[in-house]
Amino acid sequence: MSQQTETTDGAGVAESGNDTLTVTDNRTGQTYEIEITDGTVRAMDFRQIKVSEDDFGLMTYDPAFTNTASCRSAITYIDGDKGILEYRGYPIEQLAEQSTYLEVAYLLIHGELPTSEQLDQWTHDITIHTFVHENVKEFVGGFRHDAHPMGMLLGSVGALSTFYPDANEIKDPDNRMIQTIRLIAKMPTLAAFAYRHTQGQPYVYPDNDLKYPGNFLNMMYKMTELKYEPDPRLERALDILFILHADHEQNCSTNAVRAVGSSQVDPYSATAAGVAALYGPLHGGANEAVLRMLKRIEKKENIRDFMQGVKDGNERLMGFGHRVYKNYDPRAKIIKKATDDVFEVTGVNPLLEIALELEKIALEDDYFVSRKLYPNVDFYSGLIYEALGLPVSMFPVMFAIPRTSGWIAQWLEMVEDKEQKIARPRQIYTGDRTRDYVPLDQRG
Ligand code: CMC
Repeated sequence: MSQQTETTDGAGVAESGNDTLTVTDNRTGQTYEIEITDGTVRAMDFRQIKVSEDDFGLMTYDPAFTNTASCRSAITYIDGDKGILEYRGYPIEQLAEQSTYLEVAYLLIHGELPTSEQLDQWTHDITIHTFVHENVKEFVGGFRHDAHPMGMLLGSVGALSTFYPDANEIKDPDNRMIQTIRLIAKMPTLAAFAYRHTQGQPYVYPDNDLKYPGNFLNMMYKMTELKYEPDPRLERALDILFILHADHEQNCSTNAVRAVGSSQVDPYSATAAGVAALYGPLHGGANEAVLRMLKRIEKKENIRDFMQGVKDGNERLMGFGHRVYKNYDPRAKIIKKATDDVFEVTGVNPLLEIALELEKIALEDDYFVSRKLYPNVDFYSGLIYEALGLPVSMFPVMFAIPRTSGWIAQWLEMVEDKEQKIARPRQIYTGDRTRDYVPLDQRG
């Protein structure tokens, strides 16, 4: 708790220990001592700072939450300066190398790596929930032929709440877990149905003999063959992409899931909010922009001119820079390696040469070095998606499938967090006050 002190000169700091902040309100001369916990002060502790009894109290103003922690979380750790990303304390590099997406989803949800029996059970539970109600096919079929697959995913995942009305019993842990399993299991099915709709192709049912990424490839690409057999290299590359995208702490879509979920709505509706946030070009759409940029550069000879334009401020080098990472995005390194495996199967995409050259130049150029601009996760992922034959409109969908486990892990954490309430920020009101209504015939 914070406390008001008698002093007005900040002398209270040394006496009361170092884990406090002494603030003097120059409007009143009053000094306050605010507790610092985990490198953070509580915004509510500032409310006691008032100029008079009827003053509402001091608020903090932080549009876009650039310096506000909205929760305590034990799921994902990022050190942007050092380029560190860990899920539940496990470095992303080790998970990408040795784990699978389903195991990582278990880790995010449960907090620990599963034992072999737990993993078998989890895999079984997810696998047997991959089918969706037949009516889903009908409403996906109702979208226009050129509907954006992300819009279809947004609508269909929200609609799942109507198939599972008991999902609003969010206080029941067993109920939460069954919805968690359903969401992780059905997301690839909804995504593949959306894709097949855009292609005018029949929907493919899940194949429960296949692993999670292999089944997704099956639902996307199976044509007349009796049994779809995914190429293990593509399956593994996809699994790695899924691992890398599974969670990224309080990003825009996760914040949306938490904010909407804080109203105690069911998790399908909260996940739809996450999909909606990810739909935006500043979040899930940057890999598409990278691909368009590489296509526009067209050949290596054009790179110098393009880079000059970037340095002159005419445009940005897409896939470079990050709000949090001021070092090489650890996910970009891993994806770069995965591109080699994919291109071994699909043949090298000539755009890769341009991407490699751009990266080489940027990493040596003072403009990028001095601004700490390094490749981010999106620099290479679009190339892989394109090699898999995906249209750019599917790129954010490919992001949403694995991010579902992160969204739900964060939602579960929030539901159990006694400190959380309905998310409801304050505002600084800038409009007019208490005006008399003017009848229509008297307005100028
Ligand atoms: N190309 C050229 N210059 C850049 C770039 C870039 N990609 N990114 C930042 N800068 C410059 C910017 O012009 C500014 O320079 P100056 O100080 O001279 O004005 C400086 O670097 C700082 O930029 P900023 O806009 O203040 O940085 P930010 O943290 O607000 O932006 C960003 C982060 C990711 C929006 C930005 O780096 C960017 O637009 N990158 C390209 C788009 C992109 O790749 N987005 C994917 C992000 S990763 C996705 C995810 O994790 O979900």
